[in-house]
Amino acid sequence: DEESSHVFIILGASGDLAKKKIYPTLWGLHRDQLLPKNTIFVGYARSKMSISDLRKNCQPYTKVKPEEIAWYDIFWKSNYYVHGSYDQRSDFERLNEEILLKQNNGNCNRIFYLALPPTVFEPATTNIRDTCISPTGWTRIIIEKPFGKDAESSARLSEHLENLFTEEQIYRIDHYLGKEMVQNLMVLRFGNRFFSPSWSREYIACVQITFKEPFGTMGRGGYFDEFGIIRDVMQNHLLQMLSLVAMEKPASLLPDDIRDEKVKVLKCISPIKLEDVILGQYVGDPHGEGESKMGYVQDESVPNYSKTATYAIAALKINNERWDGVPFILKCGKALNERKAEVRIQYNDVPGDIFEGKTKRNELVIRVQPGEAVYLKMMNKTPGMAFEMEESELDLSYGSRYRNIKLPDAYERLILDVFCGGQMHFVRSDELREAWRIFTPLLKEIEEKDVTPFPYLFGTRGPRETAELLKKNNCKYYGSYKWSPPA
Ligand code: BG6
Repeated sequence: DEESSHVFIILGASGDLAKKKIYPTLWGLHRDQLLPKNTIFVGYARSKMSISDLRKNCQPYTKVKPEEIAWYDIFWKSNYYVHGSYDQRSDFERLNEEILLKQNNGNCNRIFYLALPPTVFEPATTNIRDTCISPTGWTRIIIEKPFGKDAESSARLSEHLENLFTEEQIYRIDHYLGKEMVQNLMVLRFGNRFFSPSWSREYIACVQITFKEPFGTMGRGGYFDEFGIIRDVMQNHLLQMLSLVAMEKPASLLPDDIRDEKVKVLKCISPIKLEDVILGQYVGDPHGEGESKMGYVQDESVPNYSKTATYAIAALKINNERWDGVPFILKCGKALNERKAEVRIQYNDVPGDIFEGKTKRNELVIRVQPGEAVYLKMMNKTPGMAFEMEESELDLSYGSRYRNIKLPDAYERLILDVFCGGQMHFVRSDELREAWRIFTPLLKEIEEKDVTPFPYLFGTRGPRETAELLKKNNCKYYGSYKWSPPA
């Protein structure tokens, strides 16, 4: 709709998510001239503030080059702000009037981004529905986790939203779905011939999906302590990657065909059992520097008796013809030795060995970040006179293969998708339901049994007990090979 204008409304405009992510993302899209012409932005929150206050808030997070300053000013000139409560209908009526006043003439579409605490989510969405639906165009709603805390609360939230909006209006963000290499999974799997014949229990020993961060909760302790690493990362980001790795080929690229397959594979997963999980919580490293001296419970916003996990590893199985018996290992943690997110497919040992046990398993690694890459770890003859062998790799590293390409930020990509109306990279409500079904009994059991996580030192690989779980699940770790990305 070339002719239409667009209003992007940020609820919770004064908050953390808005200043750290949403405004910088909108600025990035504006700078790269990716948004439809005549897009304006309206912030809404309880505090009284001016556009220049808002701009100051966002300053540390928006990267502006000297030559972009003029553009940056224009961006803020397209910004407006309205203050008001989340539960008063009359405040939203004022918001609506302000939007009508500021929007350009003609058809006008509206996107509401809800950067709100869960406590005001229900009244705010009800008020949007009752007072702020665009009279002349479409209205879409973007929401982010937490989508509830467990199966029941999430179902209540979904039901609430279903009463207000259609599924086509709701965009549930899992920002991992906006990452280049996560999107690439579909192309690698279904756009090539040579992976698919071996993509099954016949050839694959285990699949590991890993998320590691080298920093702790960094002032987000209040939120984190209530949710923990399983809800923060595993139940959403890691499970999304798993479904893209494990699903069957969709009938087409239509968003609902893809999401049908994701739901189908999730349905084949039983709730995770506590015995297949190891939990950890980081403790300060007395010899470390800065933040790493501090353990999780030393975060001011975390009670010192907290048993919330900052690390978790879980093994699950997919009960279908393709994957029966293959362990899928989800691993995530904060305050670890490195930053890394990847999918690692480990192939079976070569049957009928003629190399006196020297061969090591092949691994296909899809490296999500940092340094996007796809590489295949394989055995290779040691170059030279001797007939020896060693581990080497077939390597597609983006840094060297695609030198001058700037990969878009996940949020920029996803927010642009909302303008275009593409739901392929967003979470459907039944997907969410399945995700909670898989994790809720585990989360309840951890709570009821008051499970104490294993301590691990800030900056290490996590609790030592992890090795045992990997071994039990047919994952081999040799420690003899380290991938070095090309210079
Ligand atoms: C968020 C989690 O969803 O993802 C954070 O709440 C985590 O705890 C973040 O740090 C990681 O995102 P990225 O894109 O930096 O890997």
